[in-house]
Amino acid sequence: MKDEVDYSLIGHNTFGIAATAARYIEYDSVAELKEFIASGALTEPYLHIGQGSNLLFTRNYPGTILHSRIKGKEVMYETDDDIVVRVGGGEIWDEWVAYCVNHQWYGAENLSLIPGEVGAGAVQNIGAYGIEVKDIIQCVETVDAKGEDCIFTNPQCQYSYRQSIFKRPDMKRYFVTYVTFRLKKKECYHLDYGSIRAELAKYTSPNLDNVRQAIISIRSNKLPDPQTIGNAGSFFMNPIISRKKFEQIQKSYPDIPFYELDAFNIKVPAGWMIEQCGWKGKSLGPVAVYDKQALILVNRGGASGKDVVALSDAIRQSVFNKFNIDIHPEVNFI
Ligand code: EPU
Repeated sequence: MKDEVDYSLIGHNTFGIAATAARYIEYDSVAELKEFIASGALTEPYLHIGQGSNLLFTRNYPGTILHSRIKGKEVMYETDDDIVVRVGGGEIWDEWVAYCVNHQWYGAENLSLIPGEVGAGAVQNIGAYGIEVKDIIQCVETVDAKGEDCIFTNPQCQYSYRQSIFKRPDMKRYFVTYVTFRLKKKECYHLDYGSIRAELAKYTSPNLDNVRQAIISIRSNKLPDPQTIGNAGSFFMNPIISRKKFEQIQKSYPDIPFYELDAFNIKVPAGWMIEQCGWKGKSLGPVAVYDKQALILVNRGGASGKDVVALSDAIRQSVFNKFNIDIHPEVNFI
């Protein structure tokens, strides 16, 4: 187990913000986590992180940051159609997706190249290209801040768009240890989102590996690599508005892209609205709106959390003034 004080978090948040944690704990097993808790050393405040790909530290963290290095992939059972695999929460998300694709297991491939770890993905309900991780999760194992085991079935996780029960402030005491996935063994693709089919047409046949490569290619063309440019993926969530409000906006902006959720609710892309407000490619101090995808804020170098918040606030105000819609960060402010 790693146990450090006044620990730099710069390598633990993809924005590359230079914040510190008063204490930093990295454990390799459920036993180590329980041992740490049993010692009485886990005091408030505390925060469990993954790879830090969806976090914004706005100041030094005064408490304990916990991080799991629990690894492993174990087949629990399989039928002719499905396979159920239990995966350590500290596994790198995209390595798990690559593993599924290599084993010809269907269901995770549209989520290729999403930064982060398996446990955090289950908390955040990561999603892309028409799929959310909730679609392939069977259950989530946790240990709570008292050291007790607690398993959540998929419905108990209360998943919705970028939300789960684990994001509720009173549920932060549950630390994800393992996630169990149910994947398909027979061909099953989800190709209807955006440009997947067009990208796939460049390959000879639509096999699982090609779908993964197509998604990787689409993402790499639009999204900055956090290893090179500090960012946390989509900074804002796409707002869900009423059909009535949407139709009013559509009168003034006939080209507005949208996704119909049901008879009453429409999701509109915040990236499009931010671009309409003229922010694409613009900077405020050391933080910029990415020039290929306006939903992403990037650290141009040396930005503090407060610099990012300043640009976020300015963008939210512009979108509100132009569209009368309040957009909310997807990134968690700490
Ligand atoms: N758009 C613009 N200008 C922009 C960005 C987008 O006009 O600068 C338009 C696009 O042309 C398109 C629409 O907005 O018509 C949607 O854009 P895109 O398909 O790029 O997706 P998004 O809504 O911006 C969401 C997710 C992404 C995910 C993609 C693909 C959220 C908050 N973001 O982005 O997730 O990869 O769809 O499924 O839901 C993330 O959460 O970090 C993330 C990257």
